[in-house]
Amino acid sequence: MTRRAVVIGTGHYLPERVVENTEFEATLDTTDEWIRSRSGIERRHFAAEGQTTSHLATRAAQAALDDAGLTADDVDAIVLATSTADLTFPSAATMVQAALGMTRGFAFDVQAVCAGFVYALSNASALIASGQANRVMVIGAETFSRIMDWTDRSTCVLFGDGAGALLLEAQDQPGTKDDRGIHSTDLNSDGRHKDLLYVDGGVSTQSTGHLRMQGNQVFRHAVEKLAKTANTALDRAGMDSTDVDWIVPHQANIRIIQGTAKKMGLPMEKVIVTVQDHGNTSAASIPLALSVGKARGQIKEGDLIVTEAIGGGLAWGAVVLRW
Ligand code: ACO
Repeated sequence: MTRRAVVIGTGHYLPERVVENTEFEATLDTTDEWIRSRSGIERRHFAAEGQTTSHLATRAAQAALDDAGLTADDVDAIVLATSTADLTFPSAATMVQAALGMTRGFAFDVQAVCAGFVYALSNASALIASGQANRVMVIGAETFSRIMDWTDRSTCVLFGDGAGALLLEAQDQPGTKDDRGIHSTDLNSDGRHKDLLYVDGGVSTQSTGHLRMQGNQVFRHAVEKLAKTANTALDRAGMDSTDVDWIVPHQANIRIIQGTAKKMGLPMEKVIVTVQDHGNTSAASIPLALSVGKARGQIKEGDLIVTEAIGGGLAWGAVVLRW
């Protein structure tokens, strides 16, 4: 038997305010047509004033608990992927823990920017495989609208706010390719590429800062690295692209998503796409896409899923799991 981390609940939360591309035409030298054709984004959600990342995360986690028919007392740990925590400390994860009414276990944040959810899943899977936890709530939540430079048309039209959550449970599986749960992960980073994508502020520099990105350079790395990490994770699981039912990619740009699927030899019919409605929600984009994909009736129990993401660092990786 193999002890695996199996998804038993999903949930997501999107702030009420929807901002269409056309809204940017009033303040920036841009068009709906440019944003749509270069990124695939049509609209995004922005958090209300005073609405923080832990608030979005708590709503998504509560929805995942409801989906599983469990309460916060049934959870041993919370792993929250975010680069936009409410406060410098404590972690947003402990704030979610308190908000859910969970008085035991442990909670911590993971910061790997857009690859954050893949890193968080990998950590949660290790906690479960090693017996340190039986149920782990894995959340991706962001308020990237707080770190936008609203005068920079090359970045501020691309990002959005939101949260998604998966509840994982330790289950003994037969130890075959058909097992439900996480089969493999592949994590990478290369800090030499810091200048391609970063926030020009932080605690140690005593400012909040704004997101800065050399988009076309990140684009080049993304298409090359994402198919490679997905194939490495599949290889590690003893599988290949013919086993895949769904690719659930980080939702940054439809052209990156299409390029990665093509490199993996998979048709777009096997890709969950939400970028048109959410924009790039960084660490929240994969759990949002998983939750929406399930709600749409696309993802079903037993499906083999590959998630892949790349972001600031650069940091990138992939996870292979059977739903
Ligand atoms: N409206 C109109 N024109 C624009 C806009 C805009 N909103 N933004 C940029 N342009 C212009 C540029 O100024 C440039 O003009 P120029 O040729 O006169 O200099 C032109 O459009 C082309 O700019 P590029 O940056 O080369 O455009 P590109 O086709 O590369 O698309 C994009 C830009 C959408 C940012 C793309 O490069 C991309 O998606 N990159 C990857 C983003 C990503 O995956 N990030 C990783 C995750 S994010 C994270 O970790 C936080």
